[in-house]
Amino acid sequence: MNLKPETFSKIDEVITHYPVKRSAVLPLLHLIQEDAGYISQEAIEWVAAKLELQPINVYEVVTFYPMFRQKPIGRRHIKVCRTLSCAIMGGYKVCERFEHEFNTHRGEISPDGEVTVEFVECLASCGTAPVAMIDDELHTNLDAAKVKQLADQIRAEAKQRQ
Ligand code: FES
Repeated sequence: MNLKPETFSKIDEVITHYPVKRSAVLPLLHLIQEDAGYISQEAIEWVAAKLELQPINVYEVVTFYPMFRQKPIGRRHIKVCRTLSCAIMGGYKVCERFEHEFNTHRGEISPDGEVTVEFVECLASCGTAPVAMIDDELHTNLDAAKVKQLADQIRAEAKQRQ
């Protein structure tokens, strides 16, 4: 499976925290998703072999928890809060603007492969609503101008990579 060497090390370390190997299934899936962006069929089989489970056992966990994705995402992950404070302050509009900027729909990879926009629940920054995370960075008090600025920044960074 194609993961960073440090993810493999973390996986081996996490397993040692559990007297019963199979209990490590959730943390392992989190580590894999953090690195790969989603849980592939290959990952399900790999985790099953690693924890001495059947692939179906791991698959059931992946499909039970909504936070696990089974499809790849764009290079950047834009998570827009839709919980109460953010919803009241325009979170839905923020999401639409990101979708518009990248010509995409929620949960899909934009045509340039650059982003996936998704709704998430409260990001614990309700006082600065509406908010969104781009990868690991929180962006607060979003409005149309800020979304445009962030989208331009993402596009500029993408160009630099080329
Ligand atoms: S409601 Fe959006 S951060 Fe809490």
